[in-house]
Amino acid sequence: MSWSKDSLIAAAREAAGKAYAPYSSFHVGAALGFADGSVVTGANVENASYGLTLCAETVAVGKALSEDWRGKLEAVAVIGGKAGAVGAGDPVTPCGRCRQILNEVAALGGNDPTVLCVGESEVLELSLSDLLPHSFGPSSLG
Ligand code: THU
Repeated sequence: MSWSKDSLIAAAREAAGKAYAPYSSFHVGAALGFADGSVVTGANVENASYGLTLCAETVAVGKALSEDWRGKLEAVAVIGGKAGAVGAGDPVTPCGRCRQILNEVAALGGNDPTVLCVGESEVLELSLSDLLPHSFGPSSLG
């Protein structure tokens, strides 16, 4: 592992700086840390048709899987906030859809990753299975 929790959070923060969020002004960054040391980041990508917005975690997973990173996902860092104040508020936890999206890549690597939800005064460390209990995943299809 060549990343640390701190460097993963720093990568998520840097990714948030590249968010395309002209409608909400809420910039989110996510960083996926894999057992082979690789880190894949994503930022939210909004759309004039609001409902088509892609969350940061979803973008990161799309990048990871389309670039063949399917190793063991060990940790995910998520950070967000209004432009200029990323990380300044309460911890940002992944939305419901992103929990399911993250579950796919976690299942591929056979692991239950730690999700680092970054806030101003605390980093919530939750397992993905805590965030998404009784999940539906690849093995559910038989
Ligand atoms: N957002 C994320 O990127 N990840 C989440 O888990 C929650 C929400 C984005 C979507 C939208 O661009 C903005 O935050 C406000 O909802």
